[in-house]
Amino acid sequence: MRIQVPREKAYLLLNHGPTTLVTAAHGGRANIMAVAWAMALDIDPPKVTLVISADSFTRSLMEKSGEFALSLPSTEQVDLTLAVGHSSGGDTDKFKKFKIATFPGSKIKAPLVEGCLGWMECRRIPEPHIEKTYDLFVAEVLAAWAEDSLFGPKGWTFREGLPSTIHHIGGSVFTFPGGMLTGKKL
Ligand SMILES: Cc1cc2nc3c(=O)[nH]c(=O)nc-3n(C[C@H](O)[C@H](O)[C@H](O)COP(=O)(O)O)c2cc1C
Repeated sequence: MRIQVPREKAYLLLNHGPTTLVTAAHGGRANIMAVAWAMALDIDPPKVTLVISADSFTRSLMEKSGEFALSLPSTEQVDLTLAVGHSSGGDTDKFKKFKIATFPGSKIKAPLVEGCLGWMECRRIPEPHIEKTYDLFVAEVLAAWAEDSLFGPKGWTFREGLPSTIHHIGGSVFTFPGGMLTGKKL
């Protein structure tokens, strides 16, 4: 049996790509927010897209600096992800408030988040029309990193009981990959 999904809830069908933490820095201020709507756009040169709402403080830092980082939180960072996704850095230093450890990137000034499983250092490709109309940002990936116990030449290895990326279902709920499937030729 199929149920009809209300159009305004249709995004939930696609929502569970890895949730990310977006960090940006400018003029001595850095900030962090949760972003579920991030996806790969191209391989060479590598590009990603993000949807970043106009009222987020992180967006103002991204726009001014032209840079940002994506950190992929692990199953141990669900509460942190919700905390930075439900508070604004306009008036608070979320790094201090939530005791978030960071390390420097190799190409950009935005900090990368410790304890995450993957990281991308990105440079915004200005696209004023789609940014203004759809809050959609395109960026080139300048450098990428991953936790070596979980990521190798063929990509992620996820196993039950090991940390993994988290995937937002909606509200405070996430799912996570607990295994691998290898397809074969039919
Ligand atoms: C799990 C989760 C996913 C989110 N995904 C997005 C997203 O894709 N795009 C967005 O603009 N905001 C998203 N948000 C909301 C922002 O993280 C939130 O507005 C945040 O407070 C902005 O912080 P800032 O004003 O300090 O930049 C998400 C929040 C949560 C909890």
